[in-house]
Amino acid sequence: MPSRRWPEAGLAAALLLLGLAILLPASAAGPVSPARQAELRHLLIHDCGSCHGMTMRGGLGSPLLPSALEGRSDALLVEVILGGIRGTAMPPWAGEITEDEARWMVRLLRQGGLP
Ligand code: HEC
Repeated sequence: MPSRRWPEAGLAAALLLLGLAILLPASAAGPVSPARQAELRHLLIHDCGSCHGMTMRGGLGSPLLPSALEGRSDALLVEVILGGIRGTAMPPWAGEITEDEARWMVRLLRQGGLP
């Protein structure tokens, strides 16, 4: 009976979608998409790097190497990135990046090895 094949195809498609729904969030590593991660990495090296140094060793801005950030909490760093530091050259980035994205950047900075 050829018509019996369609429900099977539908079931297979449903299982495939279910599999994707389970696998995709795990591979995306949090709320920041891989494409956006690439953009943020570029932003860190080129925009933040214009003050902090392309390798985060410091320049006009302070070093952002893992060792330099050891004493700072994630919450403080996220706040600084989003809000800037008043009275200094550190600008607020809240219009360009979200809190989740700032958190992801802090994780990347703590890993080190940029660019
Ligand atoms: C125009 C220059 C400039 C740019 C661009 C810039 N910063 Fe800064 N940033 C500074 C300066 C200057 C300081 C130090 C301010 C102070 O405390 O005297 C600073 C401080 C910081 C700190 C605090 C470090 C610490 O040890 O407490 C973080 C984190 C930081 N910047 C992250 C970033 C990130 C991430 C970007 C890009 C999204 C960025 N900055 C872009 C100038 C800049």
